[in-house]
Amino acid sequence: MSTETKAPASILIVDDEETVRELLQEGLGSEGYRCKTCSNAPAALKLLERENFDLLLSDIDMPGVSGVELLQDVRAAKHDLDVIMVTGVVDTETAINAIRMGATDYVTKPFNLDEILLIVERTLEKRRLIRENLDYQRNLETRVQERTSELEKKNQEIEELFSELKVAFDEVRQSYQDILEALMAALDTRDTETQGHSLRVSEYTVTISRVMGVVEPELTHIRRGSLLHDVGKIGIPDAIMRKPGKLTEEEWVEMRKHPEIGYQMLQGIEFLEQALPIVIAHQERFDGTGYPNKLAGEQIPLGARIFAAADTLDAMTSNRPYRAALPYEVAHDEIVKYSGKQFDPQVVKAFCSISKDNWTQIQKRVYSELSARGKADKN
Ligand SMILES: [Fe+2]
Repeated sequence: MSTETKAPASILIVDDEETVRELLQEGLGSEGYRCKTCSNAPAALKLLERENFDLLLSDIDMPGVSGVELLQDVRAAKHDLDVIMVTGVVDTETAINAIRMGATDYVTKPFNLDEILLIVERTLEKRRLIRENLDYQRNLETRVQERTSELEKKNQEIEELFSELKVAFDEVRQSYQDILEALMAALDTRDTETQGHSLRVSEYTVTISRVMGVVEPELTHIRRGSLLHDVGKIGIPDAIMRKPGKLTEEEWVEMRKHPEIGYQMLQGIEFLEQALPIVIAHQERFDGTGYPNKLAGEQIPLGARIFAAADTLDAMTSNRPYRAALPYEVAHDEIVKYSGKQFDPQVVKAFCSISKDNWTQIQKRVYSELSARGKADKN
């Protein structure tokens, strides 16, 4: 709790008549005001330069510089204090004029002390209230400014944290992608027919998906699903996977299990959950003659329908042990020919809108990515 007591208000009395000065000084002093007196305006101005006062009580009619001129000088010098003019009855008009020039009030001579005390008290009280109000406003402004800068600082900290998190998130996301690509590259190496196939086919699938208006996050799910489509081949014995000749019917039964094996392998991995529909459905055909569930039309997830065309494109335009890569045009015609049978006509339409150059560029990009890892074949 503050024990500070308020300093008494200070009053400067300016009057050329000594008796008036003494009367005012004594009367106001007895009420607790701190009073100083001057007999002329120049002396008052000098004192005001050195000391702060709350109130100036000035006679108007003084030899030399008048009270009105003193008032003008006080206002020009921007001294912050109230001014009460004291004037003879005949000078009332001048006093009113003084108020227009910035005086707070005026008293006419002859005055009684009570009248002066009342005006002084009223003026100082009004001044105190204005000051308190100003202080309150300044205090409020300061607090608002402090709060604002605190909030700005917090905002900046949050933004920094978010960008750090985003960097970390992007790194984790890239790591996931790298792991998936490494896994599939390893699998592609085991299946000598399809080196680089998984990465190429996922890039092809994403390219067609974009043309069909697919956006994130669906695009990422499609990318992962098409990359991992054959992961289930890990569960197919080498005797079948690497068999040089044709597969028997029993061997085909085993081979056709790979979508479900892949699905089971990846189940429970949260970030791949949305990619699973493509893994399980990547061997389905638009006309319902595919496997494992003989889904038809839009029963087949969009990503898997797109994948089917991308897979055929890559299979036909890649080298195989038993034949060289076929020209793009042959693959294109094949895909168009099987529109509505093996492939979704909408997907075929999107596929046809992409130029040969575009596919070649993707092939080259994947090839250089794989070369960088030392895993590219000679396609
Ligand atoms: Fe497959």
